[in-house]
Order: sequence, then structure tokens, then C-alpha cells
Amino acid sequence: MEHTKTIGFFDSGIGGLTVLSEALCRIPGADILFYADTDHVPYGTKTREQIVRYAEDAVSSLCERGAEAVVVACNTATSMAISTLRERFPIPIIGMEPAVKPAAAIHPDEKILVCATPVTIRGEKLHMLIDRSFHEGIRPTLAALPGLVELAETERFDLPSVREYLDTVIDRRVPYAAVVLGCTHFTYFRDSFRVLFPEADILDGNTGTVNRLVDLIGGEIPGDGRITFLESGRLVTEPDKLARFGRYLDRMRTL
Ligand code: DGL
Repeated sequence: MEHTKTIGFFDSGIGGLTVLSEALCRIPGADILFYADTDHVPYGTKTREQIVRYAEDAVSSLCERGAEAVVVACNTATSMAISTLRERFPIPIIGMEPAVKPAAAIHPDEKILVCATPVTIRGEKLHMLIDRSFHEGIRPTLAALPGLVELAETERFDLPSVREYLDTVIDRRVPYAAVVLGCTHFTYFRDSFRVLFPEADILDGNTGTVNRLVDLIGGEIPGDGRITFLESGRLVTEPDKLARFGRYLDRMRTL
């Protein structure tokens, strides 16, 4: 893997840019293909069969365009499709998982809230991860938050909108010691979560995923640091669409 320089990132939409933004700080020379499956976002309310098909199409398109490794920058697609992708494609495929393990290690006997999409929350992968991470009898509270995906896709990051939505789903009076953001779209709301859960550690899986990527491909990438955006496989050239992707990357720099 010494000379890998083109890396594909894939998400249902713009959530994966939260992972890409962290990767860019670590491997600025890499050439990036970023695939947002805008035809099918959100994934979190789809069936396993649909998500597996979309993920296979995404990785296939990234490989055709020269990706030498792919980051599935989506907890939902990882939960449903990672083993199929690894069986089918002969390149390294790095997935995401909610930061349940670090949350349980830091706060073994305290209350933890795990937020994700409905598909991730119901998925066997998350429940196995919880079983492995917590002592017998201790379990985190799980919250499915599809509304946050919609707020992120429509660039509504303001605290009142986030608070209004979360208050319909989560009891904020519970003294959570950690809140796990188990969906890459939710990372855009780190600032609101910090205000709404001032005593809690706000954790996501982005650093863990980027660490695995860097371990795999090495830190020094001799590329031009070019980013190419794709929407469901189509090359994005329209200035307004490119500007939209840029705004999400800019937002990540402020969080
Ligand atoms: N960003 C995705 C995740 O990490 C999925 C959001 C969606 O499409 O529902 O789970």
C-alpha cells in the first residue's frame, strides 16, 4: 500500500465530508474521489437490500475512476454492506463504527447516549458492538435521529432548529456522561450537542476511521491533493454544487 494515492470516500450525501475533512489534515497530498449518493439519500430509512445495492454501485464507480482504497464514510452503509463490499472488491475498504467502544472505556458505569440513523440503531452490528464494549447489565440509551440528516442536507445548523428536533426524541434531563454521534451527518452539529449536553463528552468515529486509513496507506502521499466530487456516479462540475460541498468542508473547519 506504500504508493496508494487515489482514495475514494463514499456516503449517502454530505455526511462523509466530515470524515474527509479530518483525512485532509492528515494526508493532504492524496487525490480524493468523493461520492455522494444524492439520488438515494437518506439511507437510514431504506432496506438492507437497497443500501447494499447503492453501496456496491458507489464502490464500483469509485474503482472505475481509479480509487485504490475506499472509505465508507457512512455508519449506515458500513452496518449493512461492509462485508459484501469486502468480498466483492479486491481493494482495501475501510468502514465506520459509532464510537461506542471509547465511550464505554472512558465512562464504564455512567449513562451514555448513542445517536444514529434508524437502520444503524436496529442493525445487528451495533448491538454486537454494545455487547462487546459494556459490562453485563450496563447498556447505553439508543436514539434514532433521521431528522438530523435532513437538517444537515438542507444546511440548517442553527441551535434552535437542532434543539427543537432533539427535544421531540431525547430526554435532555438525563445526565449523560457521553453522547456518541454514530452518523457522519451528525458531526456537523457538534457545537449544538456541546451546548445541549454541556456535561457530556461528544464523541464520533471519524478519528478512528482516519487513523485506520493512515495506518493502511502511510502518511506521506505523493499526489496533488485534488478533490473530485461525484453525485451518484456523475461528475460534479456545476459551480453551485461545488460551492455547496465547499461550504460543508468550511463548516467542519470551524467545529
Ligand atoms: N451519513 C450516514 C451515516 O453515517 C447516513 C445518513 C443517511 O443517509 O441516513 O450513517
